[in-house]
Amino acid sequence: MSDTVLDVHISPERLLEDLRADVRQGLTASPKWLSPKWFYDAAGSELFEKITELPEYYPTRTERALIEAHAYDIAERTDAAILVELGSGSSEKTRLLLAAGVKHGSLHKYVPQDVSPSALTGAIEQISQEFPALQLQGIVSDFTDTLQNLPADGRRTIAFLGGTLGNLIPEERAEFLSDIGGALVSDEFLLLGVGLVIDPDVLVPAYDDAAGVTASFNANVLSVLNTRLGADFDPAKFAHVALWNSEDEWIEMRLRATEAHHVSIADLGLDIDFEAGEELRTEISAKFRREGIERELVDAGFGIDEFWTDPQDRFALILARRS
Ligand code: SAH
Ligand code: TRP
Repeated sequence: MSDTVLDVHISPERLLEDLRADVRQGLTASPKWLSPKWFYDAAGSELFEKITELPEYYPTRTERALIEAHAYDIAERTDAAILVELGSGSSEKTRLLLAAGVKHGSLHKYVPQDVSPSALTGAIEQISQEFPALQLQGIVSDFTDTLQNLPADGRRTIAFLGGTLGNLIPEERAEFLSDIGGALVSDEFLLLGVGLVIDPDVLVPAYDDAAGVTASFNANVLSVLNTRLGADFDPAKFAHVALWNSEDEWIEMRLRATEAHHVSIADLGLDIDFEAGEELRTEISAKFRREGIERELVDAGFGIDEFWTDPQDRFALILARRS
């Protein structure tokens, strides 16, 4: 454990300032919205892990199978000394990559990065036991503003898994991909996992499961505002909504007020009215087509080395090389 560090690149004070600014902006807008990064307090990170185990939530197990099938190939092609992972969460699937990198002999450092300190601490604890020879450096930060300070003492691969790229709106996504391109040098790699456009009858239940875990995850963002900003949201007055937007090709998550009511956010001195049926947007999860995401990667400075998909073409694992 002596090599294990958790660097906090975003202070709790700064995070609270960001939350305050975001909430003020989003809840006074029309339509109202909230940024998805606020889902992930300790309870939210745990609920997300439950989502990954749901029968309806195919992305995690599909991506895991792809990683399992290609991990050694990835280790050989990338020859990475350092694996940096953005939005690493529990790092559960990543262990397959770490095992392959260690076996291949090149990998000596893993740098998981996430906005959720609780998820990172748990992941690092487990990985330090399973891979005692790996150097570990966890980074608590917002991935959209931390790519400048990546370690540079060896050849790097950046992993961005779980379809999290799809949670950024298209403008943010283009900027983020080009920042990743800018953070790497020629012949370093991005390993990207994204969901593909599939039948809405399979897609929608993945974001609206029968057991209601996703509904609890979605509503958890209201509890975060209650705890962190002294708000008085009653989660029971909101219904979970997941719908497929076929024009933009993304899933939209919303919270619909089931009755007209009033919410006060004490720490912001804000009073917010909800009409009956009014919807608060909490997240998008964009799905991709091969040509589209390949073009976005090329525009961001990458060449496509491999594009792996599962037999049902539900998910893609893309190995992109910095040109
Ligand atoms: N990569 C994992 C987790 C995906 S869930 C997997 O594939 O299962 C999305 C993860 O991204 C969460 O752990 C969340 O805390 C993190 N996250 C979301 N927005 C973030 C942001 N702006 N900056 C850093 N991490 C973020
Ligand atoms: N990155 C995950 C995804 O887009 C996040 C996620 C899964 C999610 N289920 C959710 C976000 C439900 C909000 C609500 O698949």
